[in-house]
Amino acid sequence: MIRLDGITKRFGTAAQPSVDDLHIEMTEGTTTALIGPSGCGKTTTLRMINRMVEPTQGRIFLEDQDVTGLDPVVLRRRIGYVIQQVGLFPHQTVAENIATVPRLLGWSRARTDARIDELLALVGLEPARFRATMPQRLSGGQRQRVGVARALAGDPPVMLMDEPFGAIDPIARERLQDEFKDILRRVRKTVVMVTHDLDEAIKMGDRIAIMRDGRLVQYGTPDEILGAPVDGFVQAFVGPDRALKRLGLRTVEALIRPDVVAGADEVATSTSMRDALARLIGSGARVLNVRGENGEALGHVTRDAILDGSGPSR
Ligand SMILES: Nc1ncnc2c1ncn2[C@@H]1O[C@H](COP(=O)(O)OP(=O)(O)OP(=O)(O)O)[C@@H](O)[C@H]1O
Ligand SMILES: [Mg+2]
Repeated sequence: MIRLDGITKRFGTAAQPSVDDLHIEMTEGTTTALIGPSGCGKTTTLRMINRMVEPTQGRIFLEDQDVTGLDPVVLRRRIGYVIQQVGLFPHQTVAENIATVPRLLGWSRARTDARIDELLALVGLEPARFRATMPQRLSGGQRQRVGVARALAGDPPVMLMDEPFGAIDPIARERLQDEFKDILRRVRKTVVMVTHDLDEAIKMGDRIAIMRDGRLVQYGTPDEILGAPVDGFVQAFVGPDRALKRLGLRTVEALIRPDVVAGADEVATSTSMRDALARLIGSGARVLNVRGENGEALGHVTRDAILDGSGPSR
């Protein structure tokens, strides 16, 4: 659990605080996506959590410990940090970069080497090929993978990630997002991920925190944010297709009615409402049959039921 208790950061004599009285509680084992316009205070917020920036006011708790009372070096062993623009050490190999925290933790050579290979494989880089490579010989996407591997190395319970997939083309980006989601299914972590990309926030975040001018505007699940934006700013931020995005979060499972409709197309029960709607619009049909995981017929869904489900949540 990470709790931000009224944290405020004012740099120097600036008139406006960069982060202004932020209260958020992030549950252990969940991912929070921090999103908002450039300069709204996202990076500053992350940097306060691991004490690279000291808050002007307020307190930050990790579990029940006030982090302001902790030695920053000890603290950072518990927190993996992926910096905006990657920031690999340019004069160290990929393996040496990943070994940063294991070295600090005093791990043996054998344990460190095994960990390096395990992490390279985990982020989809073949160990034998990449271990000894220098960062400047890597593509942007490969660098970001190494950045993620380095942050995971000491197996920290908390990960702070500042636009970790920012500098990658959309296809590699999607693959990396999927891989990271998969990693989080296997190793439970509390993650705070800054992003500029709403679709990434929806995909990766159990919760989304929307910031503007240093303040928290809305904090909730993707469904809550898309279904009930608190004000015009959030509404504009999530865009006119929020109803459609919201359909992407749900599967047809909740809408199944008994009986199979003769002659209708079929979808799996894990199909998103959005994909099902696209199928219906594409074919001009009003009904799709639904099959379960083992291919058994479960019933059907109608276009109207999907469209009804896209209204604002209460
Ligand atoms: N070290 C610093 N000294 C003075 N002002 C700073 C410092 N770091 C950040 N700021 C200011 O604080 C505000 C928030 O900056 P921050 O880097 O947190 O924004 P951000 O939300 O991460 O933006 P971006 O999306 O562009 O990365 C900005 O106005 C920035 O100019
Ligand atoms: Mg930033």
